[in-house]
Amino acid sequence: MPKSEACTLLLALLTIQLFPSLAYNVVSFGARGDGRTDSTAAFLRTWKAACSSATPASVSVPRGKYLLKSIWFTGPCRSRINFEMSGTIVAPDNYNIIGNSEFWILFYKVSRLTVVGGTVDAKGHAFWSCRLRNGRCPAGARSITFQWCSNVVVRGLSSLNSQTIHIAINHSNNIKIQNVKITAPSGSPNTDGIHIQSSRGVTVTGSTIRTGDDCISIGPGSMNLWIEQIGCGPGHGISIGSLGNFAIEEGVQNVTVTNSVFTKTQNGVRVKSWARPHGSYARNLVFRNLIMRNVGNPIIIDQKYCPDNSCPHESSGVRVSQVVYKNIKGTSSTQAAMTFRCSSSKPCYGIKLQDIKLTYVNTLRRPTLAYCEHAGGSTSGSVFPTSCL
Ligand SMILES: *[C@@H]1O[C@H](CO)[C@@H](O)[C@H](O)[C@H]1NC(C)=O
Ligand SMILES: *[C@@H]1O[C@H](CO)[C@@H](O)[C@H](O)[C@H]1NC(C)=O
Repeated sequence: MPKSEACTLLLALLTIQLFPSLAYNVVSFGARGDGRTDSTAAFLRTWKAACSSATPASVSVPRGKYLLKSIWFTGPCRSRINFEMSGTIVAPDNYNIIGNSEFWILFYKVSRLTVVGGTVDAKGHAFWSCRLRNGRCPAGARSITFQWCSNVVVRGLSSLNSQTIHIAINHSNNIKIQNVKITAPSGSPNTDGIHIQSSRGVTVTGSTIRTGDDCISIGPGSMNLWIEQIGCGPGHGISIGSLGNFAIEEGVQNVTVTNSVFTKTQNGVRVKSWARPHGSYARNLVFRNLIMRNVGNPIIIDQKYCPDNSCPHESSGVRVSQVVYKNIKGTSSTQAAMTFRCSSSKPCYGIKLQDIKLTYVNTLRRPTLAYCEHAGGSTSGSVFPTSCL
């Protein structure tokens, strides 16, 4: 270690010894952990105090249930903030209270933040029932959003029953999500686990996601993502897209999904785009070391994505290229184990298949099939079902 670095390290250690981070406890600011008292203002006062601290500060949320309405934790803050949760944050029973405001818990323009432990429970059931019976419902709130944030770690958090997306990351960079647990029923509409959009350098590791929509969804403008050791299911799998929905949109590149297990999901790893002209792209994607257990479409590129039959029915202008599928094994709950339904105007190229074994779960033991449309690439190792590239 060079001398100057050693000095810096020593100084840092001394600083930690002499000035331990200041703790701001939400209860001392008036929050009540009884599950009924509105603690929104108390949390905001706590945040303000911590955020203006000249030395590293921690916000602590002790055991108990704290009722919060929509809340914005706004930065920039003067120092690093540690948000330490032992307790549970709950939403009001009336879903309109947070459902009209898009965000429930929003971190806005915050950098150098660590969120550790705790549970957030949005109590989404009544909201989903409203959605499912096509009632007059509000648009719904995401549970936790990081917008315009950087250098954030979220570790050991549980998120239950969000009205919509559980954790959203938007316009942010260097975000690490570790050991989180996301839980919502398989029939809950649009309850994505983690949604990443317009962000760079996001890693999601060691997490369990059971939900009613995508376990992880990756929207336009995302790059340099690393997703590892995810248990996904029930849910719709890990999806890139949908892309090409909005006129102006950036592409997605450099995404790795590895060492993960999909259980009874609608899809495994999916790339989806709308069938309309566009200049966008998805490239340099790696899907490897994945186990599929009874998964609907273990491997799928769908450039005719059409969730509600109100689709443009043109050819997708989103270019999908350089996609690696390596060491993917297990069972498919449909015969279509591999589907590459690419665009006629911008065919997929550079798809690489290596060491794939996906069998049909059905006891009739029909073979699985690979289906290709406008898709090119290469295979190596043993690939089953036989490649159609
Ligand atoms: C991301 O931010 C943009 C611009 O503020 C906004 O239009 C979009 O709805 C946001 N998306 C998500 C998923 O938060
Ligand atoms: C791709 O993303 C990873 C992080 O997931 C990063 O370490 C790597 O440098 C990126 N590669 C390129 C070429 O940007």
